[in-house]
Amino acid sequence: MNTDAGSSGPEEGGPVPLRSRLRGWLYDRLVSGMTAEWYRQVLQRLPDGARLLDVGIGTGAALVCCADLVRAKRLDVVGLDIDPDYLARCRVGMAGAGLTGHVRPQLGSVYDHDGGPYDAAYFSASLMLLPDPVGAIKHVAGLLAPGGRVFSTQTFHHRRSALLEWAKPLAKHITTIQFGRVTYEDEFRGAFTDAGVDLEELTTMRSTRYSSYRLAVAKPPPAAA
Ligand SMILES: C[S@@+](CC[C@H](N)C(=O)[O-])C[C@H]1O[C@@H](n2cnc3c(N)ncnc32)[C@H](O)[C@@H]1O
Repeated sequence: MNTDAGSSGPEEGGPVPLRSRLRGWLYDRLVSGMTAEWYRQVLQRLPDGARLLDVGIGTGAALVCCADLVRAKRLDVVGLDIDPDYLARCRVGMAGAGLTGHVRPQLGSVYDHDGGPYDAAYFSASLMLLPDPVGAIKHVAGLLAPGGRVFSTQTFHHRRSALLEWAKPLAKHITTIQFGRVTYEDEFRGAFTDAGVDLEELTTMRSTRYSSYRLAVAKPPPAAA
């Protein structure tokens, strides 16, 4: 178990205001249905007893859908997020799923996190919405135990679309959900190259005509891990 993951935030255990609950509810309707399968594919690859840093755990609903796997593999997860509303829902969800002994939601930004060491760091739909993906990759690579891996799952768009590039960030104003920017493969690969972290694998989990959902696995150089 990690012991230096820090506290869960000042709002732990308090009543959750209606607006916060609505945001969490909407998030679960729009995001978690899709990302639950992404989580499952990543968790299946982790060794038993793995210490995992989930960067941007959100409401944790996707992880709750994989509660069987979390328990069977005895995973030890620190779930980091900067959104107190999502984390409040996350704590309730983890308790309801009997995962409090496995998952510790923690308020904070990836750039400030100094926990670990971890066997894996996972960005599910969170890497390319960060202001500095290269810095985030470098930072989590430095928190990994030797042999640790960085995982990322997210949507890729096949062709450039100026309309989508304009519209996607605006969706936050309507839904309050950060969807980030439209991501293309060359940019994604470039972020890992610039971070000095070797992208070992980029597997397509599902594909449509215009976009695909992919799973990336990256291996930091020995000095970083
Ligand atoms: C699209 S959601 C994905 C949530 C979850 N991983 C999933 O796949 O269902 C992205 C999450 O990243 C969080 N996030 C954004 N910036 C962050 C940062 N600097 N550090 C940690 N989490 C961050 C957001 O608050 C949000 O909950």
